[in-house]
Amino acid sequence: MRALTVVPGRAGSGAVRDVPDPVADGLVSVDVVRVGLCGTDAEIERGEYGRAPEGSEVLVLGHESFGRVSGDAGGLRKGTPVVASVRRPDGCPNCRNGEQDMCLWGGFRERGINGIHGFCAERFAERAELLFPVPEEIADVAVLLEPLTISEKGWRHLVAAQRRMTYWEPKQAIVTGAGPVGILAALLLRLRGLDVTVVERTEKPARRELLARIGARYAATSVTPLGDVAAARERVDVALDATGSAAVAFETMRLVGANGAVILTSVTGADRRVELRADAVNQGLVLNNVLVLGTVNANALDFRQGIADLAAAERRWPGFLASLITRRVPLADAARALPHDPNEIKTVVEVAP
Ligand code: BGC
Repeated sequence: MRALTVVPGRAGSGAVRDVPDPVADGLVSVDVVRVGLCGTDAEIERGEYGRAPEGSEVLVLGHESFGRVSGDAGGLRKGTPVVASVRRPDGCPNCRNGEQDMCLWGGFRERGINGIHGFCAERFAERAELLFPVPEEIADVAVLLEPLTISEKGWRHLVAAQRRMTYWEPKQAIVTGAGPVGILAALLLRLRGLDVTVVERTEKPARRELLARIGARYAATSVTPLGDVAAARERVDVALDATGSAAVAFETMRLVGANGAVILTSVTGADRRVELRADAVNQGLVLNNVLVLGTVNANALDFRQGIADLAAAERRWPGFLASLITRRVPLADAARALPHDPNEIKTVVEVAP
């Protein structure tokens, strides 16, 4: 079958190649409809991240899936629309409890990223419990579920951690980065009732208009420095970084006020260095009881909550989610779509639309 592949570690090696069909042995076989591309795929394509399965030179890319079950299996009916989760467990205590997103030993694998083929192929096979059926009403936008689950997990952990105090009612949030993860995080925070400002580097009027549709504010640091954006809000309770830049991630630690929290989502695979006002950052974190929380991948709870939130968002802001998919490419052209394009929001590979 045809699949979008790379040779991990070799920049520019992305190509559509023939790969063996997946072995369906006791697994559910899924016909892929579309796969989203993201910053992680671009990093892998630049040779900065990613690992092929043992014994394979290439890695099939794609971890933002949407497909339909090919034939009745594992309790799922043929045609059921599904999204697969990404991370696969090792034998650590958390993985054994289904929390491979909290793996302790580091022997986990991630489909399309680390040591196991991904979904950007004509078919894949997976264990039924790692497939999440989605309602038909959101099937067209279900490819956005996986990038949403990153913030779903961040929010779930944040709420759990903030039980460290008796009163916490977050009102203001700043999201840095107006790519898909940032916009979906803003959507989630709006659904939870927060006043949200999304900040990016260069002003894009279309993004401002888009975010206004869900009642989120927008600012660009080319016009207003990040610190001023925060200062204009009454105490910032939550900052979520989705820029892909470690420098900005550290800056966000200075934005939140008393008892606030910073959620970090950027997977930064390069080796950049920054100069940092470390005393000020540290002092702010200490004196404000600030919580800094990394969120990677997601578990079944986040996929289920994400499905509910996609449906809620579609009811409240019809058509908003679909407008995040700004570019569709056929599988044959997928390799050319791998490099990050700041003008696009979500690029998807239409494998079999
Ligand atoms: C994916 C996660 C994955 C992370 C680190 C992200 O792009 O969405 O599923 O855990 O990269 O590899």
